[in-house]
Amino acid sequence: MHHFNYVGGVLHVEDMPVPEMAEQVGTPFYCYSTATLTRHFTVFSGAFDGMDTVVCYSVKANSNIAVLRTLASLGSGADIVSGGELARAMKAGIPASKIVFSGVGKTEDEMRAALAAGVLQFNVESEPELELLNQVAVDMVLEAPVALRINPDVDAKTHEKIATGKSENKFGLPWTQARDIYARAAALPGIRIEGVDVHIGSQLTDLQPLEDAFVRVAELVSLLREDGHNITRVDLGGGLGIPYHPEDPEPPHPDAYADVVRRTVGDLGCQIVFEPGRMIAGNAGIMVTRVVYVKETGERTFAILDGAMNDLARPSLYGSYHHIQPVKEDAGDDMQLVDFVGPVCETGDTFATSRESGPLQAGDLVAIMSAGAYGAVMASSYNTRPLTPEVLVKDDQFAVVRRRPDYEEILAQESIPNWVD
Ligand code: LLP
Repeated sequence: MHHFNYVGGVLHVEDMPVPEMAEQVGTPFYCYSTATLTRHFTVFSGAFDGMDTVVCYSVKANSNIAVLRTLASLGSGADIVSGGELARAMKAGIPASKIVFSGVGKTEDEMRAALAAGVLQFNVESEPELELLNQVAVDMVLEAPVALRINPDVDAKTHEKIATGKSENKFGLPWTQARDIYARAAALPGIRIEGVDVHIGSQLTDLQPLEDAFVRVAELVSLLREDGHNITRVDLGGGLGIPYHPEDPEPPHPDAYADVVRRTVGDLGCQIVFEPGRMIAGNAGIMVTRVVYVKETGERTFAILDGAMNDLARPSLYGSYHHIQPVKEDAGDDMQLVDFVGPVCETGDTFATSRESGPLQAGDLVAIMSAGAYGAVMASSYNTRPLTPEVLVKDDQFAVVRRRPDYEEILAQESIPNWVD
């Protein structure tokens, strides 16, 4: 998190002091750094210099259109999983020719919209999906460009809720059945087979499972070519992990990942698609929240924040670690153990337990780090808490890129039927 530093004892995002933004926007809010997004994107895409690649940023990680536009201006494509994400990507100016459509449950309407837009590729995950896509394409007098997502049955060694490459997971087609399914796909008039797709999970910190999966992809490409298919593209998904804990070992650098890619699929003569999400956005964002009360029970000290599990769900959902930093740098003395919790009426609304912290008081600002990916996108309005605003910083400027809705706007979405007195 190179662009999140203390200057004169105050946390800055690039050259923007956090308290100034908090003053203007209110808390909680998400804050992203343009320089970090840019750096992550260029380090990732630069790792494949000389190769024919398309980096399709995984929109689900952080789908704010200002973030998407920032990445689009660097040449990014998009990996989308819904009609909504298609609309966002297009609105942000990402050309359809750089959009891949993933996901196990694409609906007919979503297929129609993506076909009409002219996306680069559909990553198809089941035979029924293949059949429906064929029908829709035939009906539109089009051919859908397709890669089949293969489930390589490898253990990605990550949190069970975000591992996707084992045979018991709902994702992809069993790699052992792939040749048969490709043969059936080739006979469908609305389907144009172009590639093979794989994605084995997220927050991967070990390259070996990725290597195992890519080897399976390379083997399959050779077999499919023997079977007469014209395979011109492989999509290797996303998944590269990021550091969350300051003392964690550094996850593999994109250069090491690129070496694995070169070794395994580099000689196939295929265009290679990547779908990185977390790697680009995760450490490019923080959530800023304010201490509402400090509650001492004798047994524990709770810092009750104005941010909650609805704003940042990862700790309650996956038990994940996020570093928490005071916005005003503490001197490092009078350290105590603090539980950082939100105001929602669930014990699960806890960001951290027994965290070392300097003295805190009501009104203090704290930053929950590494919150740029799977943060704002997973926010809800549970407890009728307005969706968390988002701010984008560039140098010494900031812009509110999603504003906080007021109660009137929230309630305007609901209505009372006329049979209720
Ligand atoms: N491609 C596909 C097909 C995916 O399913 C995903 C993530 C990605 C790419 C991007 O993966 P990344 O590079 O970001 O690891 N909410 C969870 C993470 C869910 C990941 C879902 N799929 C979390 O907060 O950890």
